This record gives sequence, structure tokens and C-alpha cells, in this order.
Amino acid sequence: MTKRGFELPEKDYRYLFENASDAIWVHDMEGNIVYANKASQRLTGYNKGELIGANILKFLSSDQSHDIAHEVRRRLLSGQEIKQPYEQRITRKDGTTGILRMATSLLVSDGEVKGFQHIARDVTEERQLQDNMRFYVREVIRAQEDERRRIARELHDDVSSSLLLLIQRIDAVNSNSRLKLSDGLKEELEGLRCQSVEALESLRRIAQDLRPRILDDLGLIAALEWMADDLIKNHGIEAQVEVLGTEQSLSSEVQMLLFRIAQEALNNIRRHADASMALVTVEFADDKTILAISDNGQGFRLPERIGDMAAVGKLGLAGMRERAQLLGGSLKIHSEPDKGTTVTAQIPAQANLSCAWPKQNEFESLVSDITGSQAKT
Ligand SMILES: Nc1ncnc2c1ncn2[C@@H]1O[C@H](COP(=O)(O)OP(=O)(O)OP(=O)(O)O)[C@@H](O)[C@H]1O
Ligand SMILES: [Mg+2]
Repeated sequence: MTKRGFELPEKDYRYLFENASDAIWVHDMEGNIVYANKASQRLTGYNKGELIGANILKFLSSDQSHDIAHEVRRRLLSGQEIKQPYEQRITRKDGTTGILRMATSLLVSDGEVKGFQHIARDVTEERQLQDNMRFYVREVIRAQEDERRRIARELHDDVSSSLLLLIQRIDAVNSNSRLKLSDGLKEELEGLRCQSVEALESLRRIAQDLRPRILDDLGLIAALEWMADDLIKNHGIEAQVEVLGTEQSLSSEVQMLLFRIAQEALNNIRRHADASMALVTVEFADDKTILAISDNGQGFRLPERIGDMAAVGKLGLAGMRERAQLLGGSLKIHSEPDKGTTVTAQIPAQANLSCAWPKQNEFESLVSDITGSQAKT
């Protein structure tokens, strides 16, 4: 679009094209490159002479890259929408792989499609940093779960057994008639016993929160029901668990991560929602599992980015999202003031902690990115 009376001379367009910091290139219908700017040379490592006339397929690093290019071409030519920008991988002249975030459009002249134009930014380093960060987060979450399990076991096997022994000894002393205890001392012992029982109960509760044995012994649904019961009994919130579809077996790691998401969401309901009802739904579909936790409370205004909350020490929602992403899934939060909150985690049916990482998966998501079929956080 130009302001009337202000036409940019062609040489200026050419200057912009040549010196843009993003790579820009054009290829004809056969895929042969017709134009490529300086940034394209930096991006690929090839000089202009090597780029012009070369076929675009030469730069695509794998079958998946070909599939993506093919799908983009097919969709643009048939007038369908594609999600832009999308990601693509190329092989540079030195053999290394570059990850590009790019946008593609048709080059139309005199009503006829003559080729394709692309604008691309090199995001290789950014993606590597993200991958490293995700790897780090995954390891931190794993270490945290190991640590929780260890502390829960020690609390249970060590401290709780000692407390139980202490209670039994108090009982034995108190009921031993040969000791001829005064009434005052008996009362004192009874008081000590009560305190020990209370300590034992809180210790069991802490150990359960750290690593609920019910999750290991009876699985996710039983553990969710146990948490719902706790909300009803101890916090006066009418909580319910609903299972939709045929229950499928999930690995213990997946169950643990889903359990943690629900646990954090229910903690939030207890602490912030001022709700009278909570509903946990687990839906088993063929290709995905959906966990949704909703309440009828006061809701809240979502920040633009969940990360903004994490920056001020509110880690619950960010932790839920990380856990969903660790399983190759996504997390959505819907909240409106006075209308309640729903947190929905959606994970692929075959999810497991180690499968969230292989590069293969990234490509699958690229293909679905293009077709716009994948929900994102
Ligand atoms: N179900 C809910 N109802 C109302 N407000 C909520 C709900 N869930 C979250 N919030 C709001 O979102 C904020 C962020 O939640 P988040 O779980 O990330 O942090 P937090 O609960 O404040 O702290 P943390 O979980 O780190 O102990 C909360 O402080 C609260 O204001
Ligand atoms: Mg929280």
C-alpha cells in the first residue's frame, strides 16, 4: 500500500529486498530459484551464483522437509489457508541443519501464478536454546518427583514408624497397673498421646501429598477421587470426578504428571477460587487424553503470558503447562471474573516423558502446524 503521491522507486525496493535482515528468495513453478537476497546467502552458506538457478529441493534436509514444502505448495495453489509463519529445516552448504521460521506466498503476475516467494528467519539458535531449556525443565521435574518419592518414603518408613512406636509405648506405660501412676500423670500421658497421634496424622498427610501411594497402588482415577474427597471433607467444596470414554492404561510417569496438574489446579481452587463446586473430567479418546479441572468460583483475569506470573513467583500455572508440554501436549486456561475457571490439559494418547523429545516429533507437529490442526498453549 502506498500513500497517494508517494511511490517508492524500484531501485529502493531492490535495496530493501537486497539488504533485508531476513532471507528472501523467489522460485519458479519448477522450484528453480530466480531471486535470492544477501541474507539468503548468509543463511545457506551458498553465494549468489550458486543459489540462482539451483532447485529448492537441494536445500531441504529430509523427507519431512519435503513433505512440508509439498503441503505448503499444494495448499497455496488450491487457495487453502496455511498457518504462517511455519517452520522448515534446510541443509546448509557446510552440511549443518538450519531451522527457519518462514512465510510463503504465491507470486502472481497478469493473473497467472508464476512462482513462490519466501521470507525466512534463521531460528536455529533460538530452537536449540528452547530445546536445552525444555531438557533442563524435564530433568528438574524428574529430580523433583524422585526427591518427593524419597522424602515420602522416609517419612513413612522412618519417622512415622517411630511415632507409632512412641504411641504404643505411651499406651503401654499408661495401662501398666504395676507403675501405680497418679491421675495427673495419666492425664499428662493422655495429652502426649493425643499430640503424637496428631503429629502422625499430619505426617501421613504430608507424605501423601508428596507422593500419594494411592496413585502407585490404584492409579490416576482413584487418586483424583481421593483428592476430590479431601476437598469435600476438609474444605466444603462439592468436588466430583467424571470419566468419559474407555479408561486406557497410562504409564506411571504420565499418570504422575497428570495427577500433578490436577493437584495444582485443585490447590488453586481451594486457595483462590472461592468456589462451591469443582469438577475433574478425564476423557479417553482414541488419539488423546484430556484432563479438565473446572470450578464455579470467582475466576481471574489471565495475563497475556503465563510466564509473566512465574516471574512474580506464581509457579502453579506455569508448572502445569510445563508438565503438559513434557508429554507432548498443551494446556489451556479459560477464566472469566465471576464465571469460574477451567484448566484443560490435552496430551497425545501415546504420550510418555521420553517420547516428548525425539526430533521426529517436532516434525510431526510442524506438519500439523501447517494444517492448523494442533491446539497450542
Ligand atoms: N481456579 C482459580 N480461581 C481463581 N483464581 C485463580 C485460579 N487459579 C489460579 N488463579 C489465579 O491465578 C494466579 C496464579 O496461579 P498460580 O497457581 O500460578 O500461582 P499461585 O497459586 O498464586 O502460587 P503457587 O501456585 O506458586 O503457590 C493465582 O494467584 C490466582 O490469582
Ligand atoms: Mg497455585
